[in-house]
Amino acid sequence: MRIAVPAENLAIETRVAATPETIKKLSALGAVVTVQTGAGAASGIPDADFEAAGATIAHSLAETVEGAQVILAVHRPAASDLAGAAHGAAVIAIMDPYGQDEALAELAQAGLSTFAMEFMPRITRAQVMDVLSSQANLAGYRAVIDAAAEYGRAVPMMMTAAGTVPAARIFIMGVGVAGLQAIATARRLGAIVTATDVRPATKEQVESLGAKFLAVEDEEFLQAQTAGGYAKEMSREYQAKQAELTAAHIAKQDIVITTALIPGRPAPRLISADMVRSMRPGSVIVDLAVERGGNCELAVPGQSVVTDNGVKIVGHLNTPGRLAATASSLYARNLLAFMETLVNKETKSFAPNWDDELVKATLLTRNGAVVHPNFQKG
Ligand code: NAI
Repeated sequence: MRIAVPAENLAIETRVAATPETIKKLSALGAVVTVQTGAGAASGIPDADFEAAGATIAHSLAETVEGAQVILAVHRPAASDLAGAAHGAAVIAIMDPYGQDEALAELAQAGLSTFAMEFMPRITRAQVMDVLSSQANLAGYRAVIDAAAEYGRAVPMMMTAAGTVPAARIFIMGVGVAGLQAIATARRLGAIVTATDVRPATKEQVESLGAKFLAVEDEEFLQAQTAGGYAKEMSREYQAKQAELTAAHIAKQDIVITTALIPGRPAPRLISADMVRSMRPGSVIVDLAVERGGNCELAVPGQSVVTDNGVKIVGHLNTPGRLAATASSLYARNLLAFMETLVNKETKSFAPNWDDELVKATLLTRNGAVVHPNFQKG
């Protein structure tokens, strides 16, 4: 079984899909792993460390994928880059498939079996493979660190001989995996933390982390969580009530971190330009939803914007990649755990059980066709 780990194809992508630790374990499963030179550089993993773990270093993309049965990547590779892979090779990556019909069709036509890690079901057996959680947790942490770095004041309360410095007020909007870690991180830094979400289950989680919960708790709120544990898109009426409640609160915050997402929909708009105008100069907003349309009206993907009233709005792309070494190590473990279910341990060959629910949930293309139910026309 030949596994290829190409260098990532996007300039913004600092992560890598395998680490020396996972390469040792993949080798124990019977794999021969080839890593493209420099693939780990931005994650602090030199070629020599991959080699010491048993990988072969290839000097071009074509050489890396030549004859590979499995390609491990962070971001979806282009079909044209994988032309030299074995017939019917598997690609396991974050596929970001929505609105990418052409790229999907090309991967299908190339006969590749592609697996979208972000579609991994959130069931107990697959928790160890949950890339959304492993990466969102780091994004939540990093958002607070980024905000603290941009903020021109101290976050914790400090009692000094020269006087007392007040603690910063940090408001977290959206309390999923990223939001919970943001709350925990902000608390550790000594901030006064409040948080909001539309799912009732989050109230207790927020309070158990020592933060104060703030939300419009009406009938719609009580119904806002789907069976899958995600948020629904809220009605216009709810959104108006939520905006009214949060507007006065946001005006008093030093830092706001937004993480709110709705599966398959654009990110909900939670902070209007007027709300930004109400904040004090020097306040910071970090919008983690910026790649999905943004929670803040004024956030710009990939940029930090300073408004006329001196509020800084941070819209980093690929926030987990800002902690590349940690993000790679967790992502690589997620992939390894999935690989362990796809390999026949006796024959040491790549042999997915196509009826396994993890395979069915993640498989996008196979045998020349786009097979995932979310992408069937009509
Ligand atoms: P997400 O990334 O889809 O959304 C982030 C947060 O934004 C969610 O908490 C959502 O309720 C919130 N949100 C959406 N619209 C909002 C609005 N208008 N105003 C305020 N907040 C809004 O969510 P994530 O992080 O993927 O977590 C979703 C759920 O999945 C959670 O219940 C989490 O605990 C659960 N989960 C379960 C796992 C498992 O293996 N069982 C693993 C990871 C997460």
